[in-house]
Formats: sequence, structure tokens, C-alpha cells
Amino acid sequence: MTESSPQTVFDVIGEDGLTHLVRGFYEQVPQDEILGPMYPPADLAAAERRLREFLVYRFGGPDRYIVERGHPRLRVRHAPFVIHQAARDRWFQLMNTSLDRAEFAPEIVAALRTFFAETASFLINSDG
Ligand code: HEM
Repeated sequence: MTESSPQTVFDVIGEDGLTHLVRGFYEQVPQDEILGPMYPPADLAAAERRLREFLVYRFGGPDRYIVERGHPRLRVRHAPFVIHQAARDRWFQLMNTSLDRAEFAPEIVAALRTFFAETASFLINSDG
């Protein structure tokens, strides 16, 4: 997607595309030895919904995330979790696996992958 493109990621893949992508990420989480213990097992469906709603908002869809959760403040919201390089890399790896499986158009994959890589790096909060 170029800056001048009138279409957002949401316009192209819609709610269904983002739901599918986030589903594909979260289905890998419970059995992951780094990420599994970090996420609330009893509340995984709610965590999945929060990420989905955030991405819907961030990529051009309805702003329900903002209405429900307020400003994303992602660094603050991730502060309770120890996010070192290996956790960041694993998060990105699981999301990339889901992106590959979703088979979106190449420009959609590129836009999402760049955002995930940058945001995941921004959320590192530990040298450990
Ligand atoms: C770098 C590795 C990352 C780790 C280890 C991590 C871990 C977590 C954990 C454990 C939660 C709590 C689950 C919940 O109950 O909602 C969470 C929430 C969340 N994460 Fe991440 N995350 C990472 C990267 C990202 C990235 C790259 C994004 C954005 C693309 C993101 C977006 C979110 C959002 C939107 C929430 C819910 C915030 C809220 O409204 O409470 N995270 N993350």
C-alpha cells in the first residue's frame, strides 16, 4: 500500500481478513514456550478480540478499540510483561506464520509485516 493509495488494508481484507489473521496468531500461542505463559489462559479469547479490534482500528476500520479501551498506549499496556529480544522475535515469527497462511495480496502482507516488525521492536522493554 502506498501513501497515496485511497484504499486502506481494512478496505481490502476487511473484518474477516483481520479476524482470520489474529485467529491464526492466537492458535499458536498456548503451546509456545515463550509466549504461552505470558498470555492469560482463561482469557485468551478476550485477548484475541483486543488485538483484532486494535488492528481493525489501526488499519482503517471502525474505532471500536478506542471506544472500549481508550488510547492504545501500547508501551504502557505491555509494561507488565518482560519483553526481551527473543520474545519479540517469537511474537513476530508467529504473526508471520499466520500472515503466510492467510495468503493476502503482497502489498497487504508488506504493509502488515512492516507494522508488526516495527511495533514489536518498539515494545521491547528488557535486555534479558
Ligand atoms: C513484542 C512481543 C509482544 C509480546 C510478548 C506481547 C504480549 C502481550 C500480552 C501478554 C498481552 C496481554 C493479553 C491481553 O490480555 O490482551 C498483550 C496485549 C496486547 N498486545 Fe501485545 N505483545 C507483543 C507485541 C505486540 C504487537 C507488535 C502489537 C501490535 C501490533 C501488540 C498489540 C497488543 C494489543 C492491542 C494488546 C491489548 C491491549 C489492551 O487493550 O489491553 N502486541 N500483548
